[in-house]
Amino acid sequence: MKLAVVSVAVLLVIVVASPVSARAGGYGDDGDDDTRSWFPLDNLLSLKYYDKICPNFEKIVDTKVKEWTKTDPSLGPALLRLIFHDCGVTGCDASVLLDHEGSERRSPASKTLRGFELIDDIKSEVEKSCPGLVSCADILAAASRDAIFQLKGPYWANAYGRRDSKTSYARDVEKVPSGRRDVTGLLETFQSYGLNVLDLVVLSGAHTIGKAYCGTIQSRLYNFNGSNGTDPSIDAKYADYLRRKCRWASQTVDLDSKTPVIFDNQYYINLMKHEGVLSTDQELLKDSRTAPLVAALALQPSEIFRQQFAVSMMKLVNVGVLTGEDRDGEIRKVCSKSNSGIY
Ligand code: HEM
Repeated sequence: MKLAVVSVAVLLVIVVASPVSARAGGYGDDGDDDTRSWFPLDNLLSLKYYDKICPNFEKIVDTKVKEWTKTDPSLGPALLRLIFHDCGVTGCDASVLLDHEGSERRSPASKTLRGFELIDDIKSEVEKSCPGLVSCADILAAASRDAIFQLKGPYWANAYGRRDSKTSYARDVEKVPSGRRDVTGLLETFQSYGLNVLDLVVLSGAHTIGKAYCGTIQSRLYNFNGSNGTDPSIDAKYADYLRRKCRWASQTVDLDSKTPVIFDNQYYINLMKHEGVLSTDQELLKDSRTAPLVAALALQPSEIFRQQFAVSMMKLVNVGVLTGEDRDGEIRKVCSKSNSGIY
């Protein structure tokens, strides 16, 4: 109870202090040294970037996202994960989309990423109206935002003007956290993006939608830390449920078993009941830096989570962007290939 009271106060202070309106850029906080990851971007990305050069851009993306997710609703969560895996590696530069030997996309850790065909389809449609003007990185930012909105998530105004990377290396994929880091490791990773502890807890709430492969959580269920037993931080009944759902590594389980297709704060309620699917999720309740925020987000109406999620996403989609005349960047003609085709 005490934890809950403290946590509500903590969250309210942070949420009130957070900029809820859309804004293109960082705020120079968090003491990050990496100039590519966090610095004021006000003159680089712009809310009006496509207003004159490709006014239909967002309309095209929205229509395509609606069309594809109607046929396959699992693409919504897939797009959200895809942008995290793009921004979390070398910044939001569409490097995750390049498809050649040795690229991020070909790394074993990227095996379960999806949504590439939808992005390719959007790109070819956008190219018909505005050839050579819209980057794949901007398409990914717009499409993931629209996909979240389709799932009753928040909406925010995106700033655009990202350029696409010319390179992509599988070895860089280790920068994105997998399911087995402790909170210190997660915080260090998020800090390297210029994101803080609130961003970590709030963006982890993306696991209120989507699925995990049973292979990803098998060790938690059957052989936790080589013990031949179950991870003691999972509720016993919930562990039974997961074992019933997970007969094979190739099966999947909802990351939020209660409201798997609604973008709400149920993820945090689940964590409070020790019903987190990934160990990195449940860890957030064990650590004194993150537990009060988990409790607060569980107790508060979903709207608080949704608003803060929009704020943290606006920060995430600005991480390490290539802009302006940056020579490392280009506007790819096809999202899976660099324009030169040389790697
Ligand atoms: C905090 C560190 C994070 C870790 C360790 C992590 C790890 C994972 C893992 C292991 C899966 C299951 C993948 C599989 O079994 O194939 C997953 C799924 C997912 N992740 Fe994360 N994730 C993290 C943060 C994020 C963030 C920041 C976002 C987005 C903002 C995100 C969005 C998703 C989504 C939507 C899915 C479901 C994908 C689908 O259904 O296709 N994750 N994550």
